[in-house]
Amino acid sequence: MFFQKTQNSLTKIPQISKLLRRISIFFSLFLGTILLSWIVKAQQPVTLNLLLPAPDAPPLQKMIENFEAKNPGIRINIIEGPNSTNLIEDLYTSSFLLGDSPYDLVNMDVIWTPKFAAAGWLLDLTDRVKPQELEAFLDKDIEAGFYEGNLYRLPIRSDVGMLYYREDLLKEAGFEPPETFQDLIKISQALQQDGTINWGYVWQGRQYEGAVAMFVEVLEGFGGFWVNPNTLEVGVDRPEALNAIEFLRTTIKEEISPPGVTTYHEEDTRRFFHNGQAAFLRSWPYVWTIANQKGSPIEGKIAIKPMVHAPNQNSGACLGGWGLGIAKSSRHPEEAWKAIQYFTSQDAQREFILQEGYVPSRIELFTDPEIVAKYPHFPQLLEVVEQAVLRPPIAQYAQASDILQRYLSAALTNRMSPERAMKAAANETRRLLKTGQGEQST
Ligand code: GLC
Repeated sequence: MFFQKTQNSLTKIPQISKLLRRISIFFSLFLGTILLSWIVKAQQPVTLNLLLPAPDAPPLQKMIENFEAKNPGIRINIIEGPNSTNLIEDLYTSSFLLGDSPYDLVNMDVIWTPKFAAAGWLLDLTDRVKPQELEAFLDKDIEAGFYEGNLYRLPIRSDVGMLYYREDLLKEAGFEPPETFQDLIKISQALQQDGTINWGYVWQGRQYEGAVAMFVEVLEGFGGFWVNPNTLEVGVDRPEALNAIEFLRTTIKEEISPPGVTTYHEEDTRRFFHNGQAAFLRSWPYVWTIANQKGSPIEGKIAIKPMVHAPNQNSGACLGGWGLGIAKSSRHPEEAWKAIQYFTSQDAQREFILQEGYVPSRIELFTDPEIVAKYPHFPQLLEVVEQAVLRPPIAQYAQASDILQRYLSAALTNRMSPERAMKAAANETRRLLKTGQGEQST
């Protein structure tokens, strides 16, 4: 009996060792596959997602290619969004609110940092940059990247509102460039009346952020203000604001501006001016490069100057611009930081500005000989940018701007009297800022 049992066990030994061999082959294969997929994955480049307004994508392409060539392990995937800054902001906001945002780099308008930082959507960059490195950039561009003492955004280009005019037409008619709102109206009417040009002045009047930027300049030119970021005082129902609205309404009433102006955004106004339809345009510096391209109907015929103002007041220039931050939810913060360091570096910026004619955010580039040879107006631009005003850097900026956009549009399109509209805008803004003093809303 015992013998039989032992014999049975002995005959089973080869079967067991076969099984063990199979198991070990299976495990080796299994581990091998895991290792292989890990190696493949480790060798695959990390992709950084970045959402941009569509028109900003082609200008960035070259800089991205250069970055990728220097960093073979990192790819940047551009997602082209709508043109308007508000809509891009909405897309970022909803992706962060819903969680699991796909974006690694956050391409931010100069006005977004407080809201995005207060909501906890951005990585704190303070310890990554030395204070002396920040000194190379325009003060206000850097200021706009701070929230409650911490840095969340580095600028890749600045922007500033200015007045474009047809130098050729003004010279022919014997006019000096306008200094005051009144000059602008007078010259426009004279040029229109003698048939030199169809329209005097085009500006951004659609209900959106661009109209707020435009309005801030007119407001400043009349000595007024919107929100004082330090005291949270609201000034849009003061007489200066009503004067600012009156000026804009006059341009429509007197047919100095086309009736469609209250539906125009930047590109509508640029096309209008570009096609030789208007003597004056309020816009950002990107227009200069396009308007002076070979074959443009206004090539070499235009000049720029700071915005007009009321007598004894100063020109208002609204600071715009775009910069980069890192989404807190990004799984690749180190790679994203590498990209930011490259995009904001002196060399990359130089090439970017030379190629695109955007306003630099690094001070030295405004007087760089090669840049000035191509863009002779840059030293003058530096003065304008340095005087420019930030829209109020408050966490509730998006709502404050929305209130102003609605009531400004109502006043410009005669849906409300300017007095009623601005009273309502001021009161709503005061309520917003009061409730926001305790909690930071998004
Ligand atoms: C430009 C400016 C930006 C501004 C926007 C308004 O893109 O750079 O700061 O908010 O225009 O349309």
